[in-house]
Amino acid sequence: MTEKKVAVCTGSGRPGGLGEAILRRLGEEGYRLVVTDVDGSGTNHLAKPDEMEAVTERLRSGGAEVFSHACDVRSAESVKHLFNAAMEYFGRVDVLINNAGIGFVMKDTREVSPDEWNLVIDVTLSGVFHCTQAAAAHMEAAGRGGRIINIASQAAKSGFPHMAPYCAAKHGVIGLTRTAAIDYGAAGITVNAVCPNHVTTGLGSAQNAYFSAFKGLTESAYLEEMAARIPLQRIGQAADTAAMCAFLASDDASFITGEAINVSGGEEVH
Ligand SMILES: NC(=O)c1ccc[n+]([C@@H]2O[C@H](COP(=O)([O-])OP(=O)(O)OC[C@H]3O[C@@H](n4cnc5c(N)ncnc54)[C@H](O)[C@@H]3O)[C@@H](O)[C@H]2O)c1
Repeated sequence: MTEKKVAVCTGSGRPGGLGEAILRRLGEEGYRLVVTDVDGSGTNHLAKPDEMEAVTERLRSGGAEVFSHACDVRSAESVKHLFNAAMEYFGRVDVLINNAGIGFVMKDTREVSPDEWNLVIDVTLSGVFHCTQAAAAHMEAAGRGGRIINIASQAAKSGFPHMAPYCAAKHGVIGLTRTAAIDYGAAGITVNAVCPNHVTTGLGSAQNAYFSAFKGLTESAYLEEMAARIPLQRIGQAADTAAMCAFLASDDASFITGEAINVSGGEEVH
């Protein structure tokens, strides 16, 4: 019997987030799963240990074999521990989804503090770098190739008001994706980015509240306006992003690397 592949998704400990949806889909596809998130106790917008446990239990009750391990992607050491622990538990790592990100710093560029800038860049861009290096080292050592999927954003391709560090980090994720695709190509590791537009997750809800107030609209009017400008006339769902991740992880995507693929109902087309 073929051994089941293992998928690790960072920032997957927040219920209702893209990470949970991606892992649920990969679990349905037969992958063994690693749930990992920062210990965000005492902080708004970050996963709490009981939330990560709840996500883990939900994925298990869907039938998947799941290992969970806290990790702060800002720290190369913490990231090394994560992949060593996943290797010890499952014996292999085949797919990395770099999903952790900070999108809750919403301010005019003039008002962003150096600490806020560094936090967003450290998690959203440097975290992708640390995890890519650590996961790819295990993939290369195993000699079976692998898949690295970076959850970028529409904000990786276009500017948005009051999102300077986020847009800068996400644009950087595409640059890292293109270069890592070249550097790891000969090892059979593909590296791609997925660029969703708005999805109402925990992070998405905070953005709805901020940007509807910014535009002087109610949240429902703000979302209606958004859906109306999307060619497919609806707001994206976490399952849309999860489906793209499942495709990029699959054998069908074995000749696709270095891409930044929009999942935006036609709103973002370049
Ligand atoms: N929701 C959207 O509209 C949308 C659109 C495009 C892209 N994205 C991207 O999708 C990803 C998931 O976002 P989401 O909407 O599910 O929001 P979310 O807030 O539920 O997920 C982000 C996760 O990152 C984790 N995280 C933060 N700091 C961390 C750290 N130092 N180490 C490890 N994990 C850390 C958080 O705890 C959280 O679980 C993010 O990268 C986000 O930028 C979201």
